[in-house]
Amino acid sequence: MTDTLQKSTLQELAARLEFYRELGIYDFYRRGAAATVAADSVLAGVATDSQAQHAVTAASAATERPQPAPFSSSSIPPASQESTIPRRTLVSDQPVPPLVSFAPVLPAEQRPAALAAVRELIGECQRCQLAQGRNKIVFADGDPNAQLMFVGEGPGADEDAQGLPFVGRAGQLLNNMIAAMGLKREQVYIANIVKCRPPQNRKPEPDEANTCMPFLERQIEIVRPRVLVALGATAATYLLGMRGSIASMRGRIHDYRGIQTVVTYHPAFLLRDPTQKKEAWKDLQMAMSALGIKAPSRAPQA
Ligand code: URA
Repeated sequence: MTDTLQKSTLQELAARLEFYRELGIYDFYRRGAAATVAADSVLAGVATDSQAQHAVTAASAATERPQPAPFSSSSIPPASQESTIPRRTLVSDQPVPPLVSFAPVLPAEQRPAALAAVRELIGECQRCQLAQGRNKIVFADGDPNAQLMFVGEGPGADEDAQGLPFVGRAGQLLNNMIAAMGLKREQVYIANIVKCRPPQNRKPEPDEANTCMPFLERQIEIVRPRVLVALGATAATYLLGMRGSIASMRGRIHDYRGIQTVVTYHPAFLLRDPTQKKEAWKDLQMAMSALGIKAPSRAPQA
C-alpha cells in the first residue's frame, strides 16, 4: 500500500517536473546540483524519499520565467559527462552550452581559456533578433578568477560601440561603487543578461534573455565568484527566477546555484534617483560581508 502510494506520488511528481520543464522553468538548478540530481532521479523513477522530498522543495520553489519559448533539444550538441535537460527552441541553429548542473570548479589557470571557448561558441551570434541592431557583442569584462561578479541588464550605446560592459555613464557610477568597496574594476567580473544592445535601450524580451542566459550561466560557472550582485530587476529576474520590485528583492542574500547573490539598484536608476544610493550602498556592504572584506565606512560619492 505504502509502495503504491509512494509510486503514484512519484509519478505525479515526475509529471509535474516535466510540466515545469516544458514551461521553460529550470530554476530547480537554483538549489544546486543536488536538486537537479533529485529531479532527474524522480523523472527516472528511482528517487529515494529524501531525493523526492528535495525535488518537491525545488519544484515548489521554482518560479516561472516570463513567456518562455517552447523546448527543443534538437540543436544542442551532445554533452559528454554532463546531464542535460531539454532546452528552449532557438531562433537559429547555432549551438548553445547544454544546461547542466555546475561542473567541478575549474582551476584558476584554465578559466581564461574556458571563457574564451564560450566567447567562441557565441560567434557572430544570430540566435535572437537583437543581432539585427547591434554593433558589437558585449561578452564581459574583468578577472576570470574574480570573487565578485556584477550582472547588469544589457549593453547600451557606449557598450555596443566598444564591446565592453558598463563603460558609459552607468558604468562610471558602477566603477565608483566598486572603488567604494575598496576594489578595482579589474578585480571583479562584469557581464549582462543579454550580450547585444536592445533597440532604444528597451528591456530585453524574455525570449532574448532566455536565449542568451546559457552563456551567462556558463560564464558564472567558470568564474565561480563567491558573490554575485544583480544590478536591477532584469538581472534579478533572470538569475533568480523571481519577479518583483527591487525593494522586495534587496536586503537579503539570495542563492544562485549555491552562490550568494545580492540584488541592488541598477546604476542607471541611481543616476536618475541619487537618493537611493544610500540603499544601494547597504546592499554592497552586504556583498562585502559575504565576501569577508571590510567595508569602508563612507558611501560612494559619485
Ligand atoms: N547597463 C547595463 O545593464 N549593462 C551595461 O553594460 C551598461 C548599461
